[in-house]
Amino acid sequence: MTNIKVSKNQNGLRGCVEIPADKSISHRAVMFSSLAKGKSLIKNFSSGADPHSTLEVFSRLGIRHEFLDEKTLEIFSDGKLQLPLQALDCGNSGTTMRLMTGILAGQNFDCTLIGDTSLSKRPMKRVIEPVSLMGGCVEAVDGHAPLKIFGRELNGIDYVSKIASAQVKSCVLLAGLFADGITSVTEPYVSRNHTELMLKYLGADLTVEGKKVSVKRSGLTAKEIDICGDISSAAFFIVAGLIVPNSDIILKNVGLNPTRTGILDVVRAMGGDIEILDARESAGEPVGDLRVKYSDLRACQICGEIIPRLIDELPVIAVLASQAAGQTVVKDAGDLRNKESDRISALVCELKKIGIDIEETSDGFIVNGKAKITGGAEVETYHDHRLAMSLYVAGLVAEKEILVKDFEWVDISFPEFLGLFASL
Ligand code: S3P
Repeated sequence: MTNIKVSKNQNGLRGCVEIPADKSISHRAVMFSSLAKGKSLIKNFSSGADPHSTLEVFSRLGIRHEFLDEKTLEIFSDGKLQLPLQALDCGNSGTTMRLMTGILAGQNFDCTLIGDTSLSKRPMKRVIEPVSLMGGCVEAVDGHAPLKIFGRELNGIDYVSKIASAQVKSCVLLAGLFADGITSVTEPYVSRNHTELMLKYLGADLTVEGKKVSVKRSGLTAKEIDICGDISSAAFFIVAGLIVPNSDIILKNVGLNPTRTGILDVVRAMGGDIEILDARESAGEPVGDLRVKYSDLRACQICGEIIPRLIDELPVIAVLASQAAGQTVVKDAGDLRNKESDRISALVCELKKIGIDIEETSDGFIVNGKAKITGGAEVETYHDHRLAMSLYVAGLVAEKEILVKDFEWVDISFPEFLGLFASL
């Protein structure tokens, strides 16, 4: 177990970092290329453990891949999956387990999905329910993994999801690729749309009308996919740049898909100095470089439609709010309790230990900004990569050194994290 010490940054962060590959897009690149007929080329694949869990799952389903270098791989598929000999291990990855449920429900074999302790506590009913309505058969242990999936003929549905979740939406759409008729999903607010963009790019028969996405049984074509940088990883640098005095940094190759850029809206509402440079497109996704400078910040309200557009950034946004004048209120984010940890109670408990004025609510938290971060404490990471990285960022402005326990959890999404911070 790696405990790390973080102390106050005295000089400011300066320089330029290249943001590593998007985790959500990396998962989808492997999944959809494995379903596509032919040889796919994936460039700038994530080195995070989660996307590698997805890759391993497909190896066990008979799909061969070959790395040309650390971040470039080819996937060879005839579009068919084979009966796996063992349970498929999704590790810590909710995206792997929930999207695979959709892919596997319509196959002509049975198999089992398993995960680590944290993943085995996360709710799976949200995907089991729509898949069952499509005629699928998934057995769980009180709504949790292990999930035993019995391959069945599926029929399309018109599913109205109660939650805005890209994992639920993607699960249903992927099952829809193997179902008779039309499969539609409507969500209360639009969640990240990487599945829609990539399926379309690979030739699926898919349409989007507002909050409703529909797909018909489709074969996919193997293509080249170049993955952009992850705005959820960039978020730690954005916040650090804004709150560490005297900072001026450039973050290169950040994915700027509007379904993910809620953090930029929040930063602007707080008066943060952030600029998009060289806006461009890469594999159908908007991309740009960001310039972030230390800023005088004010509190803001975060609720409603914006929540799915910044759901993974909320832990580090709490740290940002601690340095903004006034009271920041986050509401409508109850699903944060179902992430890699209960991110509301874990975050509030650990940030309090280092002196941040934060209160838990049922569906979010309230931060009273500009209280000094005293630091001088040991903090826990709850097997949660984003909590670990958020605590690190808080440590950069704490009066006394903090010790972040079990920091190795960052490897789930962002093994380059410490090296990139050290380079600034
Ligand atoms: C993800 C969707 C989000 C997000 C997760 C990745 C995805 O989860 O929190 O880290 O890749 O589809 P929900 O869709 O459950 O909100």
